[in-house]
This record gives sequence, structure tokens and C-alpha cells, in this order.
Amino acid sequence: MITALDKDRIRLRDQARELAQGPIRARAAEVDRTEQYPWDHVDAMKDAGFLGMTIPKAYGGQSKDWLDAVLVIEEMAKTCSIAGRIAVETNMGAVSAIMAYGSEEQRKLAADMVLSGDKPAICITEPDAGSDASGMTTRADKRGNRYVLNGKKHWITGGGVSRLHLIFAKIFDEQGNFEGVGGFLAIRDETQGLEIVKREPTMGLRGIPEAEVAFNDMELPPSALIMPPRGLKKGFADLMTAYNSQRVGAGTVALGIMEGAYELALDWTEEREQFGRPINEFQGVQWRLADMSIRIAAAQALIYKAAESGKDGFPDKIMAAQAKIYTSENAIQVVNEALQLFGARGYSRNLPLERMARDVRMFTIGGGTAEVLRNVVASGLLGKKLPQTRDGYMPKMEAAE
Ligand code: FAD
Ligand code: COA
Repeated sequence: MITALDKDRIRLRDQARELAQGPIRARAAEVDRTEQYPWDHVDAMKDAGFLGMTIPKAYGGQSKDWLDAVLVIEEMAKTCSIAGRIAVETNMGAVSAIMAYGSEEQRKLAADMVLSGDKPAICITEPDAGSDASGMTTRADKRGNRYVLNGKKHWITGGGVSRLHLIFAKIFDEQGNFEGVGGFLAIRDETQGLEIVKREPTMGLRGIPEAEVAFNDMELPPSALIMPPRGLKKGFADLMTAYNSQRVGAGTVALGIMEGAYELALDWTEEREQFGRPINEFQGVQWRLADMSIRIAAAQALIYKAAESGKDGFPDKIMAAQAKIYTSENAIQVVNEALQLFGARGYSRNLPLERMARDVRMFTIGGGTAEVLRNVVASGLLGKKLPQTRDGYMPKMEAAE
């Protein structure tokens, strides 16, 4: 059951809408064309209180819940996917893991950085470990009072602009025994051995760099390690539990993009006349609009429900996966339908539809592909590991007692 939006939430959504429809919309095309990270958007969102909203008040945030963040992300993404993604990554993902599991010192550090405009990077994916994230080879070896990290991550959102990095790594003790998976905090330009190797040329979402990040004998103190609540042996599962918030956030960006495209199509089909009447008087167009609205309503319900499932912690992994699958796949359809309704104009770079079509294509891939998320849903529903998952066909690397 979705809670109706109360007055405070409506006010928050309207405040976000005003910013998104004003200065954010005005620069969205330029951000895409120039492929430059929009620091002006960051400043505007910071001033509006949209960065680090979910951070507890004790650390300078507003203790907002996931649904509050979702409302802001949705509005931002209607006009600019990049602003939407900045809202995701300053409220969910890495931030949420640090705030839930971090030490006092780690929480303060992350809160200060995020609230002053840093969008943390979350480093999970590797060239040989994408969907099979637990097959990562980035390792942290304990050497006296340090950890030494070596490895490579790629497709890291914000690589080169983000300062704070949360790095998933396999941890080994002094004797080389595998202890489990942990998340390390490192700050770009302050941590020797953290190298931004190269930026990927992307199809869409061009206002945030996607980068390869390498760790070459990168030394970190034990205080840089986020200790998962159930210890290192369950470290991967605990970090993925926090990551469910990011999946809801990513789905919300897709939701915002499809709503933005639909709104443009609604206006255009009223304005455009052919055969002596507005094209929305043709039943073929009307049914198209009706189908688009149904996809949006269903996607929004799934996203809000997944956000609310995390009321007392993190969003439920099955609901987060369901919401992201449905929203990302249907957003591609809705944007494509909207583009079609614009005729040739939809194909022009003078309108935002082609940008939206490029941007929206990402969301069935990043943050867990739609296929792998179906595995998450199915294994959760069936209560068993599926043959497609790592444990289904080979033994897991056992953590030392
Ligand atoms: P692969 O795992 O190689 O998958 C290839 C194909 O095989 C896919 O279609 C997949 O669904 C399918 N497949 C694989 N395994 C199965 C299975 N068991 N059953 C059925 N089908 C399967 N990563 C980060 O760590 N941090 C980031 O900030 C980040 N940002 C990203 C931003 C963008 C724009 C993109 C595109 C990616 C980003 N990623 C990030 C990486 C992203 O999470 C991975 O791309 C994703 O997890 C898939 O991994 P892969 O690309 O290696 O694909
Ligand atoms: N939420 C909570 N726990 C999760 C989880 C999630 N989303 N995904 C996995 N886990 C837990 C599992 O329950 C399991 O816990 P257990 O040790 O208590 O049994 C543990 O993590 C390992 O999961 P499992 O499914 O056995 O791992 P696997 O080796 O088969 O790998 C995943 C599968 C988790 C890597 C794969 O489903 C996945 O999510 N890939 C996408 C990675 C991704 O999203 N990358 C985005 C980078 S930005």
C-alpha cells in the first residue's frame, strides 16, 4: 500500500519541480553536448537542500527517507537525467552504506563531503566481474597497520569528478587467508595509488564521466575500512543490502525520464495538427498516450512501494529489483513512443527526445542488468540459489574462521 503524499512531501516535490523546470532544464542540453559535469546543478541542488537529504540530522543532513529522495530524483530526471543521477548518488548507494555501517569518523567525513557538494563514487564493477560482482579480484592485503589495495574497477560513475570513493575489495589477512569483502573509503588526490585511468565515451548520460579507476599498491589505514555489521564474512551481502537503495534511485531516474518524455508528447500532440485537426484526435495517438500513462503509473507505484519498503532500513531487495526492471524497460518504451509522436522533430537534436532516448537506454544495464535482477527476484521468491549464480555451479571462496 502506498502512503498518499502528505503536505510536506507535496511541498518538497513542488520545490524540486520548480528547480528542475527552471535552471536545471535550461542547461540540460548543454550539459549533454559539452559532456561537462554540471557543477552549477550541484550548487543549485545543494542550496535547495537536495544533496545528502537522507543523511541523519546528527551529521548535518535532514534524516529524510527514501521516498523523499525519490520525489526529488523523479522531478530532476524529468528535465535532466544527470541532475537525477546526482540526487541518487548523494542520497543513496555509497552514502547510505557509509551512514549505516560507517564509524563515527567515516560518517562525519562522508556527510561533510556530500553536503559540501561531492558526489561519492561507488566502485564495484571490474573488467572481468560485472554481473558476477562477487567474482571481483580487487584485493586488500593486510600488511602491519595498513591495507594495501591492488586492482582495477571500470564504469565508475563520477570517476575524475568525485572525490570520495567507496571501493569493494576482497580482504586477505597477513597470511594470505581470504577474510571476506569490505568497503574502503579513499579520497582522490589525497590517496596515493588511486588513479583515474580513462573516461569511457558513452552513448548517453554524458554529463557525468564513467571512468576506469585503478588501485596500485594503494595504502589505507584500517580506519578506512567500513566494517559490515555482520563482519567481513557477510560483507558482500551487507554492502549489497545497502546497494538496494541505489537500485531504487536508478529506477527513479528512468521513471523521471519517461514522465518527462510523456509530458512533452502530451503537449505536442495537442499542438500539432495534421489532416485539419490536432493529432491527439486520432485514436491511434490516443491509445498510444493511454498505454504510456499506464506504464508510468505502474512504474511509479513500484518505485514508491520499493522506497517505502526501506522505511526502517534499506529497501527490500526483491522490491528494489522488481521496480528497477519494470521501470527501466518501460522507460525505454515510453521514450521511444514519445519520440515517434514527434515525427521527424523527435529525431532532431534540437529537441530533448533523442537525448532522453540515449540516456534512458542505460538503466537496464547499470546497477545490475535486467536479466541479473530477474535472477535476484526469482532466487528470492523461490528461496534458493539458481544455477546462473556463482554458487549454483562452483564453490564459493570460503572466508577464514
Ligand atoms: P556482463 O556481466 O558482462 O553481462 C553481459 C550480458 O550477459 C548482459 O546482458 C547480462 O544481463 C548477461 N548476463 C550475465 N550474467 C547473467 C546471468 N547469470 N543470467 C542471465 N544473463 C546474464 N559499476 C560500478 O561499480 N559503479 C558505477 O558507478 C557504475 N556506473 C555505471 C554507469 C553506467 C552508465 C553503466 C553502463 C554501467 C555502470 N556500472 C557501474 C557497471 C554496471 O553495474 C555493469 O555494467 C553491470 O553490472 C553489468 O556488468 P557488465 O557490463 O560487465 O555486463
Ligand atoms: N540485497 C541483499 N543481499 C544480497 C543482494 C541484494 N541485492 N544481492 C546479493 N545478496 C546477498 C545474497 O543473499 C547472498 O547472501 P548470503 O551469503 O547470506 O547467502 C550474498 O549476497 C551473495 O549473493 P549470491 O546471489 O549468492 O551471489 P552470487 O555470487 O551468485 O552473485 C550477484 C550474484 C549478487 C553478484 C548478482 O546478483 C548481482 O547483483 N550482480 C549485479 C552487480 C551490480 O549490481 N553491480 C552494480 C555496480 S554499480
